[in-house]
Amino acid sequence: PIKAFLFDLDGVIVDTAIYHYQAWRRLANELGFDISEEFNERLKGVSRTDSLDIILAHGGLTLSEARKTELATQKNEWYLELVSRMTSDDILPGVPNFFSQVRKAGLQTALGSVSKNAPLILERIGMNNVFDAIIDGNKISKGKPDPEVFTKGAAELEVSPAECVVFEDAVAGVEAGKRGGMYVVGLGSPDVLTQADLVAPSLETLTVDEVLARFQGEG
Ligand code: G6P
Ligand code: MG
Repeated sequence: PIKAFLFDLDGVIVDTAIYHYQAWRRLANELGFDISEEFNERLKGVSRTDSLDIILAHGGLTLSEARKTELATQKNEWYLELVSRMTSDDILPGVPNFFSQVRKAGLQTALGSVSKNAPLILERIGMNNVFDAIIDGNKISKGKPDPEVFTKGAAELEVSPAECVVFEDAVAGVEAGKRGGMYVVGLGSPDVLTQADLVAPSLETLTVDEVLARFQGEG
């Protein structure tokens, strides 16, 4: 049976995906090139250092480790400026309702985000006491698409991967969930999230019963 739901943060619980994109775009612009929204799909769910490498390769730049550290720090400062203005109003539509259904169904929950800023964001939106386990970028050594962030969450909840459903908006995150042996609900476009077991536009259009019914029989 399904025992736990594991949630990505950026783009699933809260709309920080747009802030990551704005900050990365500002950095690319300063370096003399641009990144499109379509290109940004490759960055979603990917760690800060891996994202920078992908962006620099896109711009045809090879830089020293020291310069890369400077740029990653600059991006994070811009990102934190955007995040500092966030409140519970930034929680995505449908999230509070979905979580009350999750609680009623008696399911466990974990956060699975490679963001080192995840604890700060949860605090800002007032959701720091909602999850039974929180795995963030400070607790892992490999970012998505590696499954570590989700397998650690399952281990902390003491459930097996086949008892978990992952909720993800990113291609790299969907891959991480699948490689971890979990069911994956993609939130976004089915044309982008092709590896997901089920795709919906957002948590607003899903019910917990619907998700459980979809995966319950399969185990
Ligand atoms: C999430 C976001 C990515 C971001 C990563 C690292 O996975 O989807 O866009 O690069 O976290 O975030 P951080 O806050 O540590 O820079
Ligand atoms: Mg995400």
